[in-house]
Amino acid sequence: MPEPAGQAREYALGHSSQELDRLSTQAKLMEPFTRRLFEQAGISPGMSVLDVGSGAGDVAFLLREIVGPEGKVVGADRAPKAIERARERAGALGFANVEFIEGDPVEMNFHERFDAVVGRFVLMYYPSPSDALRRLAGLVRPGGIIAFQESDNSGARTFPPQPLFERLFGLMGKAIELSGAEPLMALKLYPAFIAAGLPAPAMLAEVAVMGAQDPFVEPLANFLVQGLRSMAPVIIKHGLATEQDLDLDTYARRLGDAFRSAGGVMLSPPFIGAWTRRAN
Ligand SMILES: C[S@@+](CC[C@H](N)C(=O)[O-])C[C@H]1O[C@@H](n2cnc3c(N)ncnc32)[C@H](O)[C@@H]1O
Repeated sequence: MPEPAGQAREYALGHSSQELDRLSTQAKLMEPFTRRLFEQAGISPGMSVLDVGSGAGDVAFLLREIVGPEGKVVGADRAPKAIERARERAGALGFANVEFIEGDPVEMNFHERFDAVVGRFVLMYYPSPSDALRRLAGLVRPGGIIAFQESDNSGARTFPPQPLFERLFGLMGKAIELSGAEPLMALKLYPAFIAAGLPAPAMLAEVAVMGAQDPFVEPLANFLVQGLRSMAPVIIKHGLATEQDLDLDTYARRLGDAFRSAGGVMLSPPFIGAWTRRAN
């Protein structure tokens, strides 16, 4: 029997303060990719946009830059701690036209339809992404935009291969899967749009690449290990590794050292975006 689109599941990353900080670091790295997706999808000044799974608010703030002071952005997240952080940040930035609401927008009614509904790294958490998309598309006006971006973590790689890098992505992929989320959501965006009854989406894939001498190697290793740290409770609970064997306090240094001495390249996961317009 299909599960309801909005049913809550274990969320492998959690919402600790460090995890919310990690989301903002991730947002800085992702900013050009997400901006290009939104621009190609047609998000433009003056639009009203719903950001599904708004986390610490970064996608909503990027949208605010694009829609400008005449536009409007609503971020929705089911996690109270994320909403609290996003509201604090919006207040500090003095944005009057960015609002954050707690809950799953799939289960909400709004007074007006949006010009666009978007989300980054969120469809993977819905038990049925196509059901969620179908319902979310109902929140958009006819002709409005539906745009989502996901990451294909199975595509992250280093050359030459680094066991610590492969282990990190392997463990995180397994933890995502065990928590009931879809690690291959990026690759399943296209069929999910079709199954939702939407017009076939256009798509964009982006990959970042970094060489071993890049000064960003250490910060990136720290960022990757912060993701592993956020998922450690799920990883340990499911017996995928022990705290001792992960040795999180030294993981980033070991990963950075191994990558530097091998002298190769590191490729990010492909970030895939898909967008379409609601039929009239
Ligand atoms: C990986 S974070 C991404 C946050 C943000 N979109 C970004 O890219 O910075 C996923 C967020 O989606 C939220 N989320 C997951 N499933 C949700 C649902 N059904 N309804 C609302 N929020 C959801 C989580 O609470 C989490 O804050």
